[in-house]
Amino acid sequence: MEIIGDVTLWEFRENALHLTTSHAKMRIAQYNASTFRVQACKTSETFQETSYACPEMPASQEMRLTDLGGKLVAETSFLRLIIQKKPFRLRFETLAGDVLSEDDPGLGIIWEDREVTNYKTLQPGERFFGLGEKTGPLDRAGKQYRNWNTDAYAYGQNTDPLYVSCPFYMGMSHGNMYGIFLHNHWETVFNFGAANDRFSFFQAKGGQLDYFFFGGPKPADILRDYTALTGRIKLPPMWSLGFQQCRYSYYPDTEVLRVAQTFREKNIPADVIYLDIHYMQDYKVFTWHDEKFPDPESLIEKLKALNFKVVVILDPGVKIEKDYPVYEEGLARDVFVKYPDGKPYSGAAWPGWCHFPDFTDAAVRLWWGDHVAGLVKQGVNGFWNDMNEPAVWGHHTPNLVGFALEGKTGTHKEAHNIYGMQMSRATKEGAEKVLDGERTFILTRATFSGGQRDSAVWTGDNHATDEHLMLGARLVNSLGLSGFPFTGNDVGGFTGDAARGLYRRWIAHAAFHPLMRAHSMINSRQAEPWSFGEEDLEVARNYISLRYQLLPHLYSLLFEATQNGIPPVRSLLFYYHDEWKIFTEAFENQFLLGQHLMICPVESDAKLARVYLPEGEWYQFLNDATQTGPAEHLTEIQRDTIPIYVKAGAILPLQNTIHHVDEPNDGLLRLHLYFGAEGSYTLYEDDGHTRANESNAFAKRRIDLKADTVHMSGVEGDYKSRFTKVRFYLHGASFSKGNSGGQGIEILKEDFRFLNAISNFDPYEDYPDTAKVVVGLGYLELPLSGNPLTVQLS
Ligand code: GLC
Repeated sequence: MEIIGDVTLWEFRENALHLTTSHAKMRIAQYNASTFRVQACKTSETFQETSYACPEMPASQEMRLTDLGGKLVAETSFLRLIIQKKPFRLRFETLAGDVLSEDDPGLGIIWEDREVTNYKTLQPGERFFGLGEKTGPLDRAGKQYRNWNTDAYAYGQNTDPLYVSCPFYMGMSHGNMYGIFLHNHWETVFNFGAANDRFSFFQAKGGQLDYFFFGGPKPADILRDYTALTGRIKLPPMWSLGFQQCRYSYYPDTEVLRVAQTFREKNIPADVIYLDIHYMQDYKVFTWHDEKFPDPESLIEKLKALNFKVVVILDPGVKIEKDYPVYEEGLARDVFVKYPDGKPYSGAAWPGWCHFPDFTDAAVRLWWGDHVAGLVKQGVNGFWNDMNEPAVWGHHTPNLVGFALEGKTGTHKEAHNIYGMQMSRATKEGAEKVLDGERTFILTRATFSGGQRDSAVWTGDNHATDEHLMLGARLVNSLGLSGFPFTGNDVGGFTGDAARGLYRRWIAHAAFHPLMRAHSMINSRQAEPWSFGEEDLEVARNYISLRYQLLPHLYSLLFEATQNGIPPVRSLLFYYHDEWKIFTEAFENQFLLGQHLMICPVESDAKLARVYLPEGEWYQFLNDATQTGPAEHLTEIQRDTIPIYVKAGAILPLQNTIHHVDEPNDGLLRLHLYFGAEGSYTLYEDDGHTRANESNAFAKRRIDLKADTVHMSGVEGDYKSRFTKVRFYLHGASFSKGNSGGQGIEILKEDFRFLNAISNFDPYEDYPDTAKVVVGLGYLELPLSGNPLTVQLS
């Protein structure tokens, strides 16, 4: 065991502080006012420079450094780092002197063989959050977690690890938030005061100690800094935000068509249908089943005619079978991972014995990508990367198997956690090569920090139980807190048979998740929206329709994620970290879609729900009744509703129900305004399917809500908005009734009934040309151009 020891030398060069102890060296650099990087390695090693998580590491900056003899102090406009020399210890604090995080005085950084651990003093009442796809509570204090991507079939409430590794967490000490990203993709362990009352630690089983410290002060700031390093999502195709129907498996081709047609016949909005492993011949990747799918192009054409997009599963294992072209070609091109003696590694998965492509080799990614491109040319729209931990029937690839690691070479121990992420990268890059500027959609089961750049994530093989409905909400919340904005779970539960009440509840919750994909296991009961009887079908149709109405909101939120890494689904921690009730078991599952729309998950048999309303004024989404927080609130729930609240200051853009994203909306933007507090919003649109938005083909406008005015800025960008009219729905506004002209009064009956709650009011369309308009209660409709628009209410 080696403890880091005393600093013997230090110097500042190349924008970094270099320090030496008897057997280690450290490099500390500042990236911006709230981000530091700390690296430590043995004297004989060189610092790691490249990484999968952060392909484009920004340049470090000059640091303001003071030598106080026994310690060095690096101070930004925002954060202070105190570097104690004897022994080497770090303390991050606010400028007011509150400790954010500090090394344990007796332990600090310790090496045990190849394992390196940084011990941090547990601060009184310190809380811990995030770490990606982890079971357990929102506040992870007292728990320990391991990062090692695992095929966790039918995982339990506390199973750890699951499929995704994300060695990034947020902490809260003395009321202040900070973040730590352990920049190491080997197996890692995080202890948040589990089985000890002295320290938290993070530990890597190999590689170097290399971490980023983010000073916050808010979760959104930490995420902005974290995703500035690890990257942000690009806008996915709009269709991938629609309803997605999956099953293990729909076959043959006629069955796939029947399912798609049934959505249209039953008037249930949907955009995507999946092909699980049975579309392949003997589960061989990049093949189609001779009998079940004899003419894939024609099937895809027919689905296209129904406005369905097709996503196919791709597993990494290539079946070992003589004359199977992908296998033969793989051998000839030397794409498979090998033992040290040069023999390819064989492991068993769905197709039987397989070899596994080495996705850590750029040439292999290209090879894989060419096959993906072949599927794109056949009309496939998106790809579902599964079994990419890589899974070998519940076991792990032997440690000694070798990987290219971009020419550096290493073993499975080093490559394991990034394997799935590199598979999604290869898949995405391959598809994009032939997509000619069209967007694609990649969904993955396994990935790593930074994987948000390449794919959406679903949380694997969950169960059809209420516990999993709740756990699913926490997993999506935690993924969002960890830089993954586009996530969801198998709606209805993958294993087991969803009871009717459960399916109905699940679909209601999932309508507010970024990814809404229903999926179920082979031999389980059918789980399409119509499989549970008329009543559930209606509930499913209602919630899916509501989701399609909310697409302008969801899309604007995803746009936000492309800019600053903030996910559409936000744990209450984002805005209310100083309200302790949000950490309690009863309320920790609640989440916000954006800043103001709050969903409170409830189990399927619940008739009463206890929800927590953080500070501020909250409207019940259903009936506009208001309550003031902070408060606990007991609310009755019907079989077809879940508790949903909207905070005063909210601006929610909705459209009419469309049945797939290629159906044009009716041109009317429904802007729901919740009076009682000021608010602002950025409404973002583009064509939803090309990358033209990356030049100037978007329409962006800021909307501000004040006590008695609504202001929409002029449109920024060249895209012609699909909205030509705007209707302001005035929630909570109590303005004097104006001239109710009566002409052209429209009664809202087409939409989801939740939104009809305000239709009893007296809407009218009569407005003068001046900017100042007197309106009655209800709504006000105006033509919408690209120019600024101000409406003053009186
Ligand atoms: C894995 C996946 C599941 C899929 C099944 C068959 O269990 O997690 O979603 O349906 O394999 O491909």
